[in-house]
Amino acid sequence: MKILHIAGARPNFMKLAPVVRALQAMDGVSQLIVHTGQHYDKQMSDVFFEQLGIPEPDINLAVGPGSHAQQTAEIMTRFEPVLLESKPDWVVVYGDVNSTVATALVCSKLGRRVAHVEAGLRSRDRSMPEEINRLLTDQLADLLFTPSTDGDENLLREGVAREKIHFVGNVMIDTLIRMLPQAENAKPSDLPARYALVTMHRPANVDNPEWLARLFSYLSRLGEQLPVVFPLHPRTRKQLALGGVDVANTPNLRLMDPAPYLEFLALQKGATLVITDSGGIQEETTYLGVPCLTLRDNTERPITVDFGTNILVGTDLDKLPAAIEVALRQGGGRKRIPPLWDGHASERIARILVNHI
Ligand code: UD1
Repeated sequence: MKILHIAGARPNFMKLAPVVRALQAMDGVSQLIVHTGQHYDKQMSDVFFEQLGIPEPDINLAVGPGSHAQQTAEIMTRFEPVLLESKPDWVVVYGDVNSTVATALVCSKLGRRVAHVEAGLRSRDRSMPEEINRLLTDQLADLLFTPSTDGDENLLREGVAREKIHFVGNVMIDTLIRMLPQAENAKPSDLPARYALVTMHRPANVDNPEWLARLFSYLSRLGEQLPVVFPLHPRTRKQLALGGVDVANTPNLRLMDPAPYLEFLALQKGATLVITDSGGIQEETTYLGVPCLTLRDNTERPITVDFGTNILVGTDLDKLPAAIEVALRQGGGRKRIPPLWDGHASERIARILVNHI
């Protein structure tokens, strides 16, 4: 049996790693990893392969940056001959990035079976590129692996056949649980005892220069009482430069390059508070029991609000100081861990894939 995995952008790598490992442990399975090259920097890609022990990609499509149409089209064009040549029994796609939908579409056109890991999540906000990627990928997939049961409900409502849907749990938490002991040693030694960790990269937020400048002034104010650590996504760094924000001169803010997986996990675990617009970080903080303020108006991961430590603040920055106060007052502490976020989701996926040959 041959399984081809698609790795495209940073949030895919921690989801792919445990599924590849689980399949390595099964007899008679050969695997192929195709990296689309959507993320191409050492910091955004290579270091994740190294730290997570993912085998070197067999094929790199090297698409690089571009508009959404260009990037999606380029991935499709470059992936088609690879798929025709390799003839896998299953193609496994991860998450909601452009690489996910582009390769799923090629599979369905060529009649190759495709499985979607992290299916069914919905923000119900169609202005988000990821929401379109999720909706389309789930319509194309032959097997849909959901991390939480709200995913099953969303898929059934959209007419996806019950027998295609499998609630398996959260593969990203598989990776977190496996790597946590190593992360203990990866914490930067000069970190203060208490700090806020910030990440921000969504186009809806950071492509708005006024919003970004206001966020920085709020963070500087927060930094007077609680040091702020902020690894900068390449998109955010670019937008700051365009907006004329001098990143070398930000008192109270410790700006840094994107952190490798282990360092970032250590940063999250030790944080007093996390402020983010990421999807995955809402889940990781829920597992770790660290308060998380999400600067978005919606989330495709409502379980992190219902079960976990996530508070949806919205994008109105005037609400941020009050939300910070509430989060600091309540403090951390694990709430409930969502069902099947137990470190074994990828094993369940591997068994189902192999049984579907
Ligand atoms: C993509 C995903 C998003 C995910 C995010 C994580 C889509 C639609 N979006 O958004 O869901 O949360 O990745 O990072 O697929 N860049 C670099 N080096 C890199 C990668 C990107 O400099 O290795 C630059 C690009 O040139 C571009 C910007 O960063 O200017 C944004 O990259 P892109 O992949 O287009 O989208 P993300 O915003 O990262």
